[in-house]
Amino acid sequence: MIFAEYLLLSSLVLGVQLFLHQTQRIQFVEVNDSAKIHCSSTENLEGGSSMFWYLRREGEKPTCIKHCLDDQNVGKFVCKHETHSSTLEISNVQKTESGIYYCAYRYSSYLIFGNGTTLIVGDSYTNSSWVMLLVPFPWGSQVTGTANLACVIHGVSSLVHVSWSVSGELQEQRLTHSLKAKDGSLTLINHISVPMDTWTSGKNFTCEVKFNSSGTSVKKSTRYLTGDFPGPACCL
Ligand SMILES: *[C@@H]1O[C@H](CO)[C@@H](O)[C@H](O)[C@H]1NC(C)=O
Ligand SMILES: *[C@@H]1O[C@H](CO)[C@@H](O)[C@H](O)[C@H]1NC(C)=O
Ligand SMILES: *[C@@H]1O[C@H](CO)[C@@H](O)[C@H](O)[C@H]1NC(C)=O
Ligand SMILES: *[C@@H]1O[C@H](CO)[C@@H](O)[C@H](O)[C@H]1NC(C)=O
Ligand SMILES: *[C@@H]1O[C@H](CO)[C@@H](O)[C@H](O)[C@H]1NC(C)=O
Repeated sequence: MIFAEYLLLSSLVLGVQLFLHQTQRIQFVEVNDSAKIHCSSTENLEGGSSMFWYLRREGEKPTCIKHCLDDQNVGKFVCKHETHSSTLEISNVQKTESGIYYCAYRYSSYLIFGNGTTLIVGDSYTNSSWVMLLVPFPWGSQVTGTANLACVIHGVSSLVHVSWSVSGELQEQRLTHSLKAKDGSLTLINHISVPMDTWTSGKNFTCEVKFNSSGTSVKKSTRYLTGDFPGPACCL
């Protein structure tokens, strides 16, 4: 029993020394092109036989798509190795292969994951796409001390890249929630929480949405407006 615990502890301690870095957070690629997703390691990957790749599609659980061990360098997914890195090459990418790609390394009995690279294939923009910002309700949010803002991206065919900036300062990446409509289109909701006084100080909050590899993106900005808000009674 004690021995088993010792083994677990020592493997955890050793395992912690290996980190997988996926420095590219987002990659846009055209349909039918090939994508290369890079993963580097702080330790020698020993030829990559313990390397795996997982794909998490929007609204699904991550699934293992490649074990680099039996790599014959054929097929859709190919692993390329160097001592401290592994690259997954995906040929002839299709829209359904958009998602977050995670590299993983099996260390004794558990897996160490990279932070993931989001792959967006083709153009997610459709003729019904729009972006809207939802701001805190002026009376309700005072109570909690937290201001929640949401960026709603309606009517897209696939993933998009969302980034927030507060008065020009880029914020940490946030998780996106998605809803699928009957026609298969997606509505994505990405939200940011800030202390109430950050919001009421009048800073400029901008949500930037990139739908494809073209240089243009859609930006929506808002800020807290001082002055008296009309009471709820006027809506009745
Ligand atoms: C992964 O992301 C977390 C949170 O953003 C960060 O603290 C960590 O350093 C990242 N890890 C690597 C290996 O890049
Ligand atoms: C991708 O390839 C298929 C089959 O070769 C072709 O029909 C389709 O038009 C191509 N799509 C794009 C966007 O190039
Ligand atoms: C939007 O595009 C679809 C096909 O992609 C088309 O069937 C539809 O008529 C278009 N709607 C409008 C309002 O242009
Ligand atoms: C907020 O900043 C964006 C760019 O960072 C700018 O385009 C926009 O006009 C600003 N909005 C307000 C309300 O100041
Ligand atoms: C790409 O996204 C922009 C909005 O950011 C949109 O106007 C444009 O139609 C999209 N498609 C292409 C091919 O640029």
